[in-house]
Amino acid sequence: MHVITSAPGKVTLFGEHAVVYGEPALVTSIDKRVYVRLRLRDDKAIKISAQDLHIPGLIVTLREEEVILETDYGKVIPAISYIKKAIELTADYVGKFRGVDIEVTSDMPVGAGLGTSAAVAIATIYAYLQALKEELSKEEIARLGWRVEKEVQGMASPMDTSIATFGGFLYIKYRGSEVTLRRLKINTQLPLVIGYVEREFKTADMVKKVKVLYDKYPGIVKDIFSTIGRITEEALRALEVSDVIRLGELMNINQGLLDAIGVSNSKLSTLVYVARAAGALGAKLTGAGGGGCVIALAPGRSREVAVAMRLAGARTIDTSIGGEGVRVEKVINA
Ligand code: PMV
Repeated sequence: MHVITSAPGKVTLFGEHAVVYGEPALVTSIDKRVYVRLRLRDDKAIKISAQDLHIPGLIVTLREEEVILETDYGKVIPAISYIKKAIELTADYVGKFRGVDIEVTSDMPVGAGLGTSAAVAIATIYAYLQALKEELSKEEIARLGWRVEKEVQGMASPMDTSIATFGGFLYIKYRGSEVTLRRLKINTQLPLVIGYVEREFKTADMVKKVKVLYDKYPGIVKDIFSTIGRITEEALRALEVSDVIRLGELMNINQGLLDAIGVSNSKLSTLVYVARAAGALGAKLTGAGGGGCVIALAPGRSREVAVAMRLAGARTIDTSIGGEGVRVEKVINA
């Protein structure tokens, strides 16, 4: 029996970095997904194939046991670690272990800050559970995925794994292991253009950089975070009444504060400015920064904004948001 599952990527609309300090964030899934095809084996081996990742600019190298995925915009992802850890922790959790053959494919760029590692982890957990005929709640799946990310990366918030599990829009806040999640019903059309550029630093490096600034200027940086928290709350109200003008303005204010804590860079700032000049209502970096992605809210101007970003050196993705969380795509009984 083969099981094919998929989980969506994501963008953070508001509140990255501040979320690490207990402030709320708003995050949404996108309609680009990662797919995992899994088959149980009769032995205990875990065999992973990621060669099918047809992504422009992706180099796949097989080095010893590890599949290394490198993108030509500068990110290396040890994808196999997430898959192996997801299998191990799930097996441990349900108290059953069977080896697996796994194939991973993706219809979004890997390692650009769109939450692909969390999507891989969650889709793997879900496929393995289906194959083992075990049922866990979505909450348990999201928590398992969070543990996978923490064990592989050393540090991670529950944001990416929660959105990969539930999809849609989430309001999320956490402190230690205590997570507050609100699944939001949003009817607003939010045409986002995503532009991405080379990522110079890993998420963990950016989080550390912010921590250094926080320790040096605690009073100032704490105030910046609580202001970002207020922006997020205000954005939630704007989303609820479909006020896209206000949302755009709030994105711009959030961007200014992300710049203030040192996570933007000249490439990201350039994209933000060209997007606004091309008619975006608002634009900001999304995720950890130091390269990676910019999102622009551009109702009726998506094409112009995408062209402007590409002329400024970015790759772009046109996507709608709020896609479904982890799901079974197919079960093939063969
Ligand atoms: O770069 P990403 O998509 O992994 O986003 C990181 C978001 C941070 O708030 C900076 C860190 C976190 O763990 O929430």
